[in-house]
Amino acid sequence: MENKMEWWKQTSIYQIYPWSFQDSNGDGIGDLPGILTRLDQIRDLGVETIWFSPFYKSPGEDFGYDISDYTSIDPRFGTMDDCDKLIREIHKRKMKVVLDMVMNHTSDKHPWFLESKSSKENPKRDFYIWHKGEKKVPNNWISMVGTSGWNYDETTDESYYSNFLSFQPDLNYRNPKVKKSMFGVLDFWLNKGVDGFRLDIFNSIYKDEGFRDNPSSFRYFPTPDNHDEAFFQKKQYNLNLPESFQFAKEVRKHISKYKQKPFLIGEVSGSDKILKSFLGEKADGLNLVFQFELIHFDYKAQFFKDLLEKNEREFPAPYTPTYVLGNHDQRRFIDRLGGDVRKAKVLSAFQFLARGIPVVYYGDEIGRKEGRIPNFFGKDPIAKMNRFVPLFLCNLLGIYINRDNCRLPMLWDTTEQAGFSKGKPWLPVGQFQTEDTVVYQKTKNDSLWNHYRSLFHLRKTSSVLKEGNIKTKLSHHADVLCFERTLGKIVVIVYLNFGEKEIKETVSKGSKLLYSFGGAEVLGDKLQLTGHSGAVFEIRLKK
Ligand code: GLC
Ligand code: CA
Repeated sequence: MENKMEWWKQTSIYQIYPWSFQDSNGDGIGDLPGILTRLDQIRDLGVETIWFSPFYKSPGEDFGYDISDYTSIDPRFGTMDDCDKLIREIHKRKMKVVLDMVMNHTSDKHPWFLESKSSKENPKRDFYIWHKGEKKVPNNWISMVGTSGWNYDETTDESYYSNFLSFQPDLNYRNPKVKKSMFGVLDFWLNKGVDGFRLDIFNSIYKDEGFRDNPSSFRYFPTPDNHDEAFFQKKQYNLNLPESFQFAKEVRKHISKYKQKPFLIGEVSGSDKILKSFLGEKADGLNLVFQFELIHFDYKAQFFKDLLEKNEREFPAPYTPTYVLGNHDQRRFIDRLGGDVRKAKVLSAFQFLARGIPVVYYGDEIGRKEGRIPNFFGKDPIAKMNRFVPLFLCNLLGIYINRDNCRLPMLWDTTEQAGFSKGKPWLPVGQFQTEDTVVYQKTKNDSLWNHYRSLFHLRKTSSVLKEGNIKTKLSHHADVLCFERTLGKIVVIVYLNFGEKEIKETVSKGSKLLYSFGGAEVLGDKLQLTGHSGAVFEIRLKK
């Protein structure tokens, strides 16, 4: 059957955090030439699209999410030639490249901001949001990190606004010149052939023109999918503005003319209604948004059934849901599972077999574990802000502060620095066993790495899994999630056992086993599902 659906609706995404993937020159920081040496392995894993966290020129105070030049490569990561080569080599291997684009803010060392803050008359003054008036703190807006978003600057006796950290001043998208400059940046990269952008805190792009005060809320702690009511404040006027929904459409339209058919995936947060507003009523906004429900899963079949059904209700085709198990801001998912690899297999199988885009964070395919670095010793600016908050308290309250812990170097092999670097890594590799490394897991049939490899390949080669619709089915067992994917005359049936107990299911006649894991076995017309196992069947309908 000819495959007509847009490519980005069918892809799988693998996120690389460049600082921690592969160092090539012994300075302890991952780099582009290092990544180049690992591309064959990424292809062999079956990855279709690679998303890179930022490697543009940056002071690195927020590890690249504070950009000082959008069209050059930070020397710690390599050169523009390395980058061109990287894009070329990824394409040669039939994979796609997505860059991280921080449109909301720049670094305070960006020449635009240096000019902007130099005087009120500077032509770049209005590139940022300066509050003109007497008050240093003109309203009650709280940033996404829980502090006032206003930052007083002595040079001109005015305050500028930042919705994240104070060294990340927000650009002013009400100034047409800012839009034009940022579209120029997108063009620069699209002309180099990149296939899409991940849009950093896109929910923050516009702020209320009248600077109205936000109403209060009852909630203190933010969650990955809701910043909007945290710190006792509803972020009505500094997040998720209607102008931001509109801007999503503008960016989509702007990039659509490129022949590689690039796409946008937005980091936004809030209710499904808000996510949908970013996607557009006619699916004409951001192509995709990250959906973070799997970051706080409840490891029970019912949770995943509800999630599937909810996504089909709220985001039916042509919308494409996304399933995110981790990223560079969240506790590693294997740690959220208490280190249980069997459960990790069930969860990742869910992520790859459901209708939607699986987003995999580097290292999750080997069950890379969290670090235990206390906030006090954290390099992460959020950890520095909270340096006196002990780690046990964060764990007790279920809040995640020191993001260093999910950014530790990749574990390639059993050499001293796990094959990541010949020097001293910027973050410690930490303790690890032989079984934790890629090199070892590749040789073991039942390893997590081989499971991920099977899942990537299963999706890659199955148009039913890529394009088919989805329906949950009733199982007689509360611990089993069963769903069907259908395209034309082919049906793929998935069984996942979230319980400890062994369970038997009856298999329909004519089913062909495509994949099983965790000890699931077919005996006659019965599927024997051991605890935390799963199986995938295909049936070809006659009519
Ligand atoms: C996003 C990024 C995070 C960064 C922040 C500010 O949430 O994922 O790492 O610190 O935006 O750019
Ligand atoms: Ca390096």
